[in-house]
Amino acid sequence: MADQKVAFITGVTGQDGAYLSEFLLKKGYKVHGLKRRSSLFNTDRIDHLYQDPHVDNQNFILHYGDMTDSTNLTRLIQKIQPDEIYNLAAMSHVRVSFEMPEYVADVDGIGTLRILEAVRLLGLEKKTRIYQASTSELYGKIQEVPQKESTPFYPRSPYGVAKIYAYWITVNYREAYNMFACNGILFNHESPIRGETFVTRKTTRAISRIALGLQDKFYLGNLDAKRDWGHAKDYVRMMWMILQADEPEDWVIATGKSTTVRDFVRMAFAEVGVSIVFEGDGINEKAFVESCSNEKYQIPLGQEVLSIDERYYRPTEVDLLIGDATKAKEKLGWECQYELSDLVKDMMQSDLKLMLKGQYLEEGGYRTMNYYE
Ligand code: NAP
Ligand code: GDD
Repeated sequence: MADQKVAFITGVTGQDGAYLSEFLLKKGYKVHGLKRRSSLFNTDRIDHLYQDPHVDNQNFILHYGDMTDSTNLTRLIQKIQPDEIYNLAAMSHVRVSFEMPEYVADVDGIGTLRILEAVRLLGLEKKTRIYQASTSELYGKIQEVPQKESTPFYPRSPYGVAKIYAYWITVNYREAYNMFACNGILFNHESPIRGETFVTRKTTRAISRIALGLQDKFYLGNLDAKRDWGHAKDYVRMMWMILQADEPEDWVIATGKSTTVRDFVRMAFAEVGVSIVFEGDGINEKAFVESCSNEKYQIPLGQEVLSIDERYYRPTEVDLLIGDATKAKEKLGWECQYELSDLVKDMMQSDLKLMLKGQYLEEGGYRTMNYYE
């Protein structure tokens, strides 16, 4: 295909990388992805897209690389000559960023500079459009409700601080070198392939196991935090729309609704017919089974299914996120197709299926127990 568009996705093995690859391939793109060398397979989310490298005209091609290696990134961009780069690679876990702040600054912050600088050095400023995965974590200790493009930033974690560098260096390269470089300020988005250590997936996995009698309870941190949760499928569509816009700009993408972690847990239990009641305050809060209406999932009434573990608190927390995506709706015609209730259903159905398939049936071990951040 002479005019086939070429995309390069960093972070292709992550949640968004997988959905975006699927989306772009359906649109007829040739998709190149950056994957890290790992001692175990790390391509679970994209294995269904894999194409045998021995056949001609592959449309999905993976390359080894790392955001800390500028020579590797520059060489790949030179070889691929992408029309669009989606910079999704990041150490994306906020709690973990407190444990490894220097690495996060390098990957999430300077990594973005390495991509922008490669495009500039290679003289691709006019050809290559760049999407930077910015985040509602930039708003941190919020200065305004709801948060929109003009809301001042106040990051609350090494992750947020690294991402604020990435945000501004993207703006600076756009202004200094006329590059089509844009920030998508995306609020939390989840899915059945969400990383298992984020609170939504940790919850749906644990509740699926509790419903099947494989574990009795699980542990979380701050139940009062409020997040604006959308479905990742809606959000990757917007990444592409941002790069098709007439002008390079920065965009907030959010549902405009915010829910506590506690209510997310309630909703996920409701998917297996279980109603829970919360008792106690702060670190002494617990949840118990109040009623159970689904014969398939019989959990004893009164069973303690959730406790608080202080280790899952963050040194500095982001209490409330709620986004205003009016600009994206009005200028790009973006709309959410999924409600939070659809998202919870999708995640619960998928995790119940996974647990039933036996992948996680074994007892013990950190994968099945309460070890996650
Ligand atoms: P994710 O599932 O954690 O995926 C992160 C990706 O980055 C993975 O492919 C990971 O590779 C890769 N990566 C990490 N360190 C790397 C390095 N040093 N070199 C190369 N690749 C590296 O994250 P996500 O949820 O898909 O999010 C995608 C992007 O959007 C991230 O930048 C995130 O910070 C940002 N974001 C996410 C949300 C959200 O709610 N999901 C909201 C706003 C912004 P491995 O698979 O090998 O670990
Ligand atoms: N992960 C986790 N684990 N979070 C917990 C837990 C727990 O056991 N208990 C309570 N929480 C609370 C966190 O304190 C936080 O307030 C909220 O649940 C959401 O946490 P995460 O799901 O880890 O997501 P996040 O909001 O910190 O960060 C995600 O969204 C950002 C966009 O706002 C990540 O995807 C970031 O990469 C992304 O930028």
